[in-house]
Amino acid sequence: MMFFAKLHPLIVHFPVALLTSGVVFEVYGSLRKDEVVTTAGRFNTRLGFWCIFPVLLVGFLGMLSLGNTEKFKDFLSDHLRFAFLTAATFLIAMVVSRYFRSRLGRVVYFLALAAGLVCVLRTGYYGGELVHRFNLPASGWAQ
Ligand code: HEM
Repeated sequence: MMFFAKLHPLIVHFPVALLTSGVVFEVYGSLRKDEVVTTAGRFNTRLGFWCIFPVLLVGFLGMLSLGNTEKFKDFLSDHLRFAFLTAATFLIAMVVSRYFRSRLGRVVYFLALAAGLVCVLRTGYYGGELVHRFNLPASGWAQ
C-alpha cells in the first residue's frame, strides 16, 4: 500500500539515529572506561535494534506498492541487502552480548557493532538515493 511507502521514510530515522549514537557511545564509553556513557550506548543500540523490525516490515509492505522498478532496481536491491545485513549483524551482537560473556565474546561484540554501523549507514545511503534521486515513493507508484 502507498501508505506504507510513505510511512517507511518517516520512521527509518529512529533506528538509524539510535544505532549510530549507540555504537559511538559504546565504543567511546569503553575506551574511556566511562560506565555512564557505555550504559547510555547499550540502551540506544538495544532500542535501535528493536526498531529495525517494524521498519523492515513497513519497508516490505511499501515495496509492494511500487511499480516500474526498472530504473532504480540496483539501488533497491542494495538497499534491501544492506537492510538485512544490518539486522543480521546487530542480531549477532545482541546474541553474543547475552550468551557469550567472555573476552572473545567482547571482541566479537565490538566487531559486530562496527560492522552493523557500516551496514546501517549504507542502508540509509541507498534508501536516501531512492527518495532523493529517484523520487520514490511518488515516481514508483504502481498504476
Ligand atoms: C534496516 C532496515 C532499513 C533501514 C534503516 C532503511 C532506511 C531507509 C532510508 C533512510 C530511506 C530514505 C528515507 C528518506 O530519505 O527520507 C529508505 C527508503 C526506502 N526504503 Fe528502506 N530501510 C530499511 C529497510 C527496508 C526494506 C526491508 C525495504 C523493502 C523491502 C525498504 C524499502 C525502501 C524503499 C522502497 C524506500 C524509498 C521510499 C519508499 O518508497 O518508501 N527499506 N529506507
